[in-house]
Amino acid sequence: MKLEQKFEIQGGCELKGEIKVNGAKNSALKILASVVLTKEAIVIENFPFIEDTQRMLEILEELGAIIEKDKKNKKVMIDPVGVENGNLQGELVKQLRASILLVGPLLARFGEVDMTYPGGCVIGKRPIDLFLNGFQKMGGKVEWNDDGFKISSDETKLVGTTIFFPKVTVTGTEALMMTAVLAEGKTVLKNCAMEPEIKSLADYLNNNGAKIKGAGTSMIVIEGVEKISAGTFDVIPDRIEAGTFIMMGLLCKSEITVTDCIPEHLGAFLPVLKNAGADLEIGENYVKVKKGKRLKATSIATHEYPGFATDLQPPYTLLMTQAEGISLIHETIFEGRLFFTDQLNSMGTAIVMCDPHRVVVSGPTSLYGKKLTSPDLRAGITMVLAGMIAHGTTTIDNIYQIDRGYEDIDERLNSLGAKIKRI
Ligand code: EPZ
Repeated sequence: MKLEQKFEIQGGCELKGEIKVNGAKNSALKILASVVLTKEAIVIENFPFIEDTQRMLEILEELGAIIEKDKKNKKVMIDPVGVENGNLQGELVKQLRASILLVGPLLARFGEVDMTYPGGCVIGKRPIDLFLNGFQKMGGKVEWNDDGFKISSDETKLVGTTIFFPKVTVTGTEALMMTAVLAEGKTVLKNCAMEPEIKSLADYLNNNGAKIKGAGTSMIVIEGVEKISAGTFDVIPDRIEAGTFIMMGLLCKSEITVTDCIPEHLGAFLPVLKNAGADLEIGENYVKVKKGKRLKATSIATHEYPGFATDLQPPYTLLMTQAEGISLIHETIFEGRLFFTDQLNSMGTAIVMCDPHRVVVSGPTSLYGKKLTSPDLRAGITMVLAGMIAHGTTTIDNIYQIDRGYEDIDERLNSLGAKIKRI
């Protein structure tokens, strides 16, 4: 059973060589949700075979889709012709918050969705009010029951409208953008998230008959169409893997090259690292980490794209424990994404929590191997990196959380010289 696996990590390793960035988890999950918008089969390339995408494929199979996987060539083919209703019940939906992304497309296709409320990782409560308010504004009727909700649109068509998000939401933007593709008339979405994965999804849908303008900006306008077709989708590189591996090179004081990435998708992250004194060579589709002097402590506040990504905050917080001086880490997006720091402190770091959104880090400090538990995938990978620079041996359990977002991570890091054993 995957859930009992652990990582055992020997610290103090020097890394060298190249590591190839995988297809982006947070792009793949969205294109998977969009397949139910049409009856035609899609081929997805550069597909990340991670736990979250496997869960989403299983949910699609339960809905009636036919799936063909080709892990060697990083490809999947999905034929959604057998999907005939919006029945999102069962354990799988609870495990994966991203399953909420299926609601809009299923509602747009079938006029009714019955869903058990999804779970997801424990970084603060994960509300879905922005999704449901949007569906209601488009004509959906929401009824809550004790373990989930039912949405129905009495006419078979949702109706386009203007939705101003009270808060920037990545999946909320994507969900309503996809839903509006098949709604009646024009939908205007304002205060949208601008993540690269959103533009990538819109470009694919437009190549197959949708009429979406402005994806990647804060205002998206969608003209509803009767139906769309399907084609081939090439998943963009995972900017969070890329940023995480760059920080891994800096933490291990090693010279490594992170390849097959798109540096500009890293937003404010690279300028922050340069400010901190990192010696990086930034190419067209790679970043080379050079051995340099110790980093200077540099404060950050996470922010929606193109600001400093919240998913890069946990490894960055670890990086600051090795920098010279005092830094403030302000996690503005989630209220539960800094509690992992108490486990880093058990290894020897000096991190003071001011409130659930802010910690102050003093560095540099030495780390000593410990027994740790991975609370969510980004804190989990941070613990792997901590184990790699700690004196002695570190074990991490609940590594399903890490396998959710990082494919074959032990093999890939060991090929650079890490010493990680999966037990
Ligand atoms: C997406 O989550 C990503 N997940 C997250 O990555 C990422 O951390 C997050 O965006 C922020 O960049 C996927 O793309 C699958 P939000 P999402 O809606 O869309 C509040 C990872 O590690 N909110 O942008 O769920 C919410 O509580 C994951 O790969 C509402 O209040 O995040 C948060 O405070 C973790 N009501 C803020 O908005 C809602 O209906 C931003 O959340 C929805 C969200």
